[in-house]
Amino acid sequence: MITPYRSDIERHLATARWFAGKGRPFRVAGLRSAPVPGGSDGLELLVVLVEVEYLDAAGGTELYQLPVSVHAAPKEHLEPAWIGRWDGRHAYDATHDRAAMTQWLEAFALSADELARVDTPLRFHRCGDADLPTGERPGLMTAEQSNSSVAYGEELLMKLFRKVTPGPNPDIEIHEVLTRAGSDHVAALHGWVDWETDEGEVVQLAMLQQFLRTGSDGWALARSSARALFAEADLHAHEVGGDFASEAARLGQALAETHATLAEHFPTQQLDAAGARALADTMLARLDWAAEQVPALEQYVDRLRPRLAVVADVAEEAGVRVQRIHGDLHLGQTLRTVKGWKLVDFEGEPARPLHERSHPEPVWRDVAGMLRSFDYAAAVVQRELGGEGAASDDQRAYRAEEWVERNRRAFLTAYAGGELSPEQELLCAAFEADKAVYECVYELRNRPDWADIPLAAVARLVASETAAVAE
Ligand SMILES: Nc1ncnc2c1ncn2[C@@H]1O[C@H](COP(=O)(O)OP(=O)(O)O)[C@@H](O)[C@H]1O
Ligand SMILES: [Mg+2]
Repeated sequence: MITPYRSDIERHLATARWFAGKGRPFRVAGLRSAPVPGGSDGLELLVVLVEVEYLDAAGGTELYQLPVSVHAAPKEHLEPAWIGRWDGRHAYDATHDRAAMTQWLEAFALSADELARVDTPLRFHRCGDADLPTGERPGLMTAEQSNSSVAYGEELLMKLFRKVTPGPNPDIEIHEVLTRAGSDHVAALHGWVDWETDEGEVVQLAMLQQFLRTGSDGWALARSSARALFAEADLHAHEVGGDFASEAARLGQALAETHATLAEHFPTQQLDAAGARALADTMLARLDWAAEQVPALEQYVDRLRPRLAVVADVAEEAGVRVQRIHGDLHLGQTLRTVKGWKLVDFEGEPARPLHERSHPEPVWRDVAGMLRSFDYAAAVVQRELGGEGAASDDQRAYRAEEWVERNRRAFLTAYAGGELSPEQELLCAAFEADKAVYECVYELRNRPDWADIPLAAVARLVASETAAVAE
């Protein structure tokens, strides 16, 4: 097997879209390679696990997956994916390489005999026994994402995780459980790829699932609905062609059904007083941490505290159940297909350590994530259309609020199967505040232009009636 060049990998990582350490000083502290079974003459396909060590004060290490295809002759069409020249051969990021990604898919269909001939720590697991159409042409998806996904024809999608951690990957774990349970709200899982290390750990590298070819991204659909409303000066949300409320309701229903299936197949638990206190403390600590970094949040801290702390009181009085949830739910993680809404990407909040992401949580974290996303959709559209004078801005702000309120209600009512109880309202508001507080930090760091979207939400939340009940 060819030996990767450390300096080439470092250079490649530094500019890769999925590399989380861009701008930070780092070095490649370790490299391990594994051959992918199968393949054709002149192409060597391997997976390189790259251990990155950060050299700044924050320090720490991360593990990345880099599938590499090595060709004897240079491949002009792969030029943008070029990594380096190794032992006179040419190494490329294999996700761009059709021949390599075909080999990756075909490895799922190899016989035990064929697999036994290759000494590799890679394991290709199947879920279900449907025949895999392996003849389809692979193509790398162009969506802005943190991992890399390759579609094969119209049926299959392979998601290769870039930043990996030893242990079960929640995206694979949850897709497997929901697929076996016959859920209507996820793309069916067909298989996954593991690396079994010499130390007995498993690093999960990729998942193969149904390609939701007809799916439209919920984030795009919601924004076009808001745009349609703003374009109609005299109509209200429910009168406009692009009304989203029925979709919001179907989303609420899809989330409720998904939560119910997850509760059936993973352990659930009633939070005890200590657990509820710990949950509230985590939120309060996140608030302090956020206020240190976002000076504009400071003025809301005192009024936010009771709204977060209330989680512990509600748990004590009415009880709060925790269970497996999506963990990072927003409109961008939903797809509207001809067969209804599907939820994607169960990896949880990328900023949190993997072991925390599979902790059972109140379902209200997901519900709040979606509510925040409605607010973002309207706010972002308002911005796109802004700058046409103060009067129209006011008018638009009013209509945005109307759009958000209508969709929130439709979503919540469908989710809860009716009005929320006062306790549910409190929990939902607490998780929404927690999420908005986190977003304030995220936007300041990543998209300062959007920083006032979550900040305005925080201001609204502390002023709202629901939250006042908490005092
Ligand atoms: N099974 C699927 N079929 C079609 N498109 C999908 C599928 N899963 C995800 N997508 C699309 O690809 C995008 C990125 O997928 P996602 O799983 O969220 O990856 P990441 O972990 O990189 O965010 C999603 O926002 C969605 O639009
Ligand atoms: Mg995603």
